[in-house]
Amino acid sequence: MADIRLDFVCKSFGKTEAVHELSLNVDNGEFLVLLGPTGAGKTTTLRLVAGLERPDKGRVAIAGRDVTSAPPAMRDVTFVFQQYSLYPHLSVFDNLAFPLRSPVRRTPPAEIERKVREVARLLHIEDKLQNRATQLSGGQMQRVAIGRALVRSPAIYLMDEPLSSLDAKLRGEMRIELQRIQRELGATILYVTHDQTEAMTLATRIGVMDRGRLVQVGTPREIYENPVDAYVATRLGSPGINLVPRSVFPTMPAPPAAATVGVRTEHVRIRKANDGGALGTVSWIEHLGDQDHLHVAIGERDFVTLSDADAGLGVGDPVAIEVMRPLFFDAAGRRVPG
Ligand SMILES: Nc1ncnc2c1ncn2[C@@H]1O[C@H](COP(=O)(O)OP(=O)(O)O)[C@@H](O)[C@H]1O
Ligand SMILES: [Mg+2]
Repeated sequence: MADIRLDFVCKSFGKTEAVHELSLNVDNGEFLVLLGPTGAGKTTTLRLVAGLERPDKGRVAIAGRDVTSAPPAMRDVTFVFQQYSLYPHLSVFDNLAFPLRSPVRRTPPAEIERKVREVARLLHIEDKLQNRATQLSGGQMQRVAIGRALVRSPAIYLMDEPLSSLDAKLRGEMRIELQRIQRELGATILYVTHDQTEAMTLATRIGVMDRGRLVQVGTPREIYENPVDAYVATRLGSPGINLVPRSVFPTMPAPPAAATVGVRTEHVRIRKANDGGALGTVSWIEHLGDQDHLHVAIGERDFVTLSDADAGLGVGDPVAIEVMRPLFFDAAGRRVPG
């Protein structure tokens, strides 16, 4: 078994509280993604699990064992960093073999050969084993960096934005690769990113972080459909959820505490309203081929909806808006059931 358990973990640097009372379970075989903007405390959380930081308060357990004061080497975790660091003068084979050749491990050469080939096959870089690391593309280098974590077969993989230095196309490919690898290995992965697409596509569960706090944990679908507050609601969805004052929709039934209405762009029916029932006017249309992003000016506000490319609406048209599945938030941004 390889699970991670954090209990009320706190970590400050001087006056900065990087992580505040964070409690989280990552189950055996789970792909848990922590999602949050820069400064949310994601890297610090990974470093606390790895043993690169000691918590000020709270406990860290791996595979049921309290490791709060254990050094990194005693934790059976590997860390894939944002910036891959390969040995440029070594071949891909030797880069992959490096962690196995450490004096404490003393892996037999035949075993190293077997393990390196297995990982190279998994990562589709078998034909690159004799290349020097410097002869690889960015995507291949990041595969080797991930491969260096895989050869050790640790209990836990920690990944800190491992795809952020790749271009969009490679990121897309590597997302699919990582999912496949995780399934094949049945690995337990704690992965952090600020990229909502990575979180949505990779995670069995997402943990949303905000300024050192873990605000919500759930499946991608739960987080998307049932955010606990307006902050979480804005983390997922592209274009983002519309948050408008309740007064914009005076006839909409809403709970008394509702101050803000959240409307996902796909939960809107829009029609031309020359008859006086208009809520706003089309201000701008972004054509994306299969669909349009329709921007509606409601007073000073920009309200975004998805619409079919052939909806027949043009800039300046007055439109009526029908909202399906609104989400309600109180004045403090907390979700109000409705
Ligand atoms: N070693 C450190 N010394 C001082 N401040 C730090 C250190 N590490 C992180 N911090 C601060 O802690 C907060 C969380 O940082 P970090 O965990 O790196 O967030 P993230 O990875 O989500 O961007 C930030 O305000 C950051 O500046
Ligand atoms: Mg970070």
